[in-house]
Amino acid sequence: MYQEDIKGEIRDLLRKRNAVLLAHNYMRDEVQEIADITGDSLALSMEAARTDADVIVFCGVHFMAESASILSPDKTVLLPRLDAGCPMADMVTVEGLLEMKSRLPGVPVVTYVNSTAAVKAHSDICCTSANAGRVVDSLPDSEIIFAPDRNLGSYVAKSSSKKFHFWDGFCPTHERLRPEQAARLKAEYPDALFICHPECNPAVTALADHACSTSGMYDYCKKSPAKRFIIGTEAGILYRLKKENPDKEFILASPALICPNMKLISLEDILASLTHMSPEVRVPEDIRVPAKRALDRMLAVPRD
Ligand code: 13P
Ligand code: SF4
Repeated sequence: MYQEDIKGEIRDLLRKRNAVLLAHNYMRDEVQEIADITGDSLALSMEAARTDADVIVFCGVHFMAESASILSPDKTVLLPRLDAGCPMADMVTVEGLLEMKSRLPGVPVVTYVNSTAAVKAHSDICCTSANAGRVVDSLPDSEIIFAPDRNLGSYVAKSSSKKFHFWDGFCPTHERLRPEQAARLKAEYPDALFICHPECNPAVTALADHACSTSGMYDYCKKSPAKRFIIGTEAGILYRLKKENPDKEFILASPALICPNMKLISLEDILASLTHMSPEVRVPEDIRVPAKRALDRMLAVPRD
């Protein structure tokens, strides 16, 4: 079947099922193209919490679909590929987190949304890369446990007076961008601004003109008078950056910046998922309720 025919069938089924298609900024170009909403983890969880659709087709990775199900338990949440996981989310287990909490009694746990629902259920508050600083600042405590991303944690810690206890997790995709590579490109394109995601290694973030969430990059590049940007995040971001800024040039900081999990969902998978109404992601109530508390606390933190 031609791509345009598949897209037409998807749109028909979305209407028939009163479904909304949410896609993360790292999805394949053609998936972003047919999505109702594209965004970063924060924007997508906010949309999942407020949509009045009956069905959410989540084009992202497993923890994102879980968050949608936690926030909207009365809706059917479809993840067209159940094998689209996040290796960083799997780096922290409930047992490990409980052990760390027992060593640091009374210290609140701030958990990056890139984590399982079960880990969220044992956390005080969640954060995304777009609001991590504000979430940390919102807590009255002088010490925090930050899990699972040590890179995002140390980025936030740089502008916080609190003492951070880091979980030793990381994103394998962002970690592949080495500081030497970023420095080489900066030297090659001295007029370019280097923008990276805070999931990058601190040695890379230290070289950046700006570090922010994926949606933050769209705003920054649109507003900036610069004409050339070196981009330190997953390659999927380029689709919208190029579309929204046809007069600007975007250089991916490394060809290794491809997350295999974020590239799994195809148009065919979405069509099959909407046809069979599966695979569905649903979080059991005993995990969902405490996990929702941590997500709700995050969503209540005022935006700038
Ligand atoms: P954001 O879109 O929230 O910046 O997240 C990046 C990411 O790695 C998601 O897996
Ligand atoms: Fe996980 Fe990194 Fe892929 Fe995001 S880009 S889903 S953090 S492995």
